[in-house]
Amino acid sequence: KPMRVQHRVVLLGESAVGKSSLVMRFSRNEFNQYNESTIGAAYVSKDVALDGGCTAQLQIWDTAGQERYKSLAPMYYRGAGGAVVVYDITQAASFGRARAWVAELQRQNEGKTVIALVGNKLDLAAKRTVSREEGAAYAAEAGLLFYETSAQSGQGVQQVFEELSRKIPLP
Ligand code: GTP
Ligand code: MG
Repeated sequence: KPMRVQHRVVLLGESAVGKSSLVMRFSRNEFNQYNESTIGAAYVSKDVALDGGCTAQLQIWDTAGQERYKSLAPMYYRGAGGAVVVYDITQAASFGRARAWVAELQRQNEGKTVIALVGNKLDLAAKRTVSREEGAAYAAEAGLLFYETSAQSGQGVQQVFEELSRKIPLP
């Protein structure tokens, strides 16, 4: 009988890096140039196929990146099977913020959450301030999956959620 599992996945990262846009691209294959900043957090569920006929229901919590919501984040990341930590490749400060989220996650969740580091807005590579090498080197050192994506074009987005889902241990 094919197995069905549920995986909770949380998105973290500075405001405006494109967390909600990545979720919208993945769940509905849509992009909105004038997307509104998230208030509190938003929930989306989406099924992904795993190996061997298994299906995972991803329960995705898209958190708000604005500073005033920072204290809510632990409610969403605590016990999460996976985390997508996002920065904007054109905003070096957002990469620093992403590293701080990774450190907090690894400390609080005791290494039990599978983390994907995602450099978003790859369509704006001409304005890049964080190199792919810098992102990849940090991810390797911290033991994270690493991707660069564009929520606008869709490049790499599916892969983030599918590969992350496969790395989360089955119950
Ligand atoms: P908060 O909810 O405030 O934490 O922000 P967020 O990380 O959810 O960002 P959001 O998805 O709302 O995107 C912020 C802005 O960046 C919006 O204007 C998006 O259209 C734009 N954006 C998101 N992803 C991309 C991308 O891949 N490329 C480009 N060019 N713009 C993007
Ligand atoms: Mg948002």
